[in-house]
Amino acid sequence: MKTKMIGLILCLLLTAAIVPIELIAQALKENPVLDAKVKKFLSENSGRWQDMNVPTSDAQLLYDLVIKGKYTSALEIGTSTGLSGIYIAWALSKTGGKLITIDIDEGRHKIALENFKKAGLSEYIDAHLADAHSLVKELKGPFDFVFSDADKNWYKNYFIDVDPKLKVGGCYTTHNISETRRMGEGNYLEYIRSLKNYETTLNSAGGGLLISYKRAEK
Ligand SMILES: C[S@@+](CC[C@H](N)C(=O)[O-])C[C@H]1O[C@@H](n2cnc3c(N)ncnc32)[C@H](O)[C@@H]1O
Repeated sequence: MKTKMIGLILCLLLTAAIVPIELIAQALKENPVLDAKVKKFLSENSGRWQDMNVPTSDAQLLYDLVIKGKYTSALEIGTSTGLSGIYIAWALSKTGGKLITIDIDEGRHKIALENFKKAGLSEYIDAHLADAHSLVKELKGPFDFVFSDADKNWYKNYFIDVDPKLKVGGCYTTHNISETRRMGEGNYLEYIRSLKNYETTLNSAGGGLLISYKRAEK
């Protein structure tokens, strides 16, 4: 009996030494009921997203990035009717996080609110009807995940405003970026690539998702 107890204690000590405590604490929250609700909503609405929404492959990529980084405080600039927001918030429902999303258009904002509700994700989303030019400056943060998908000619300004509020280890993503095509974002790609404290890659499988990891404060 005594030998068994000692064996058990040794086993527990060994497990604690091998599995870092933060990995145990950061386990993803599974919610099969919510998963089923989100999947049903997405399947019923597939092919109906016509408000400049991201392709589904990019939405899935955003979901994967949030899950992989176990991010919990996300910001989206450009909600539209909520497709990308749904994928980001779905991932955040598993990491225990929340999304702040902003759009200036009242009609799309209202539809997004309805969509978030139908998908069962409202409690993970704080949706603002506002001009992101001013609201992004006012938001305190800190953030660890950002998706920038509003007015392209403001991309660099958004980045400059958010950068001090993005945690080291965080991820800043920007949509509709291409090596050759420029859609009003000027020298944004060159600017981001010139930053020594960011590690940037371009995923061109969908609409062009620039993925920038913050590796150091400066
Ligand atoms: C490409 S759509 C966003 C699509 C959305 N991310 C999705 O995939 O479902 C861009 C949105 O940015 C919004 N937008 C443009 N300028 C803005 C501004 N200054 N402040 C807030 N939203 C803005 C537009 O109203 C539009 O709905």
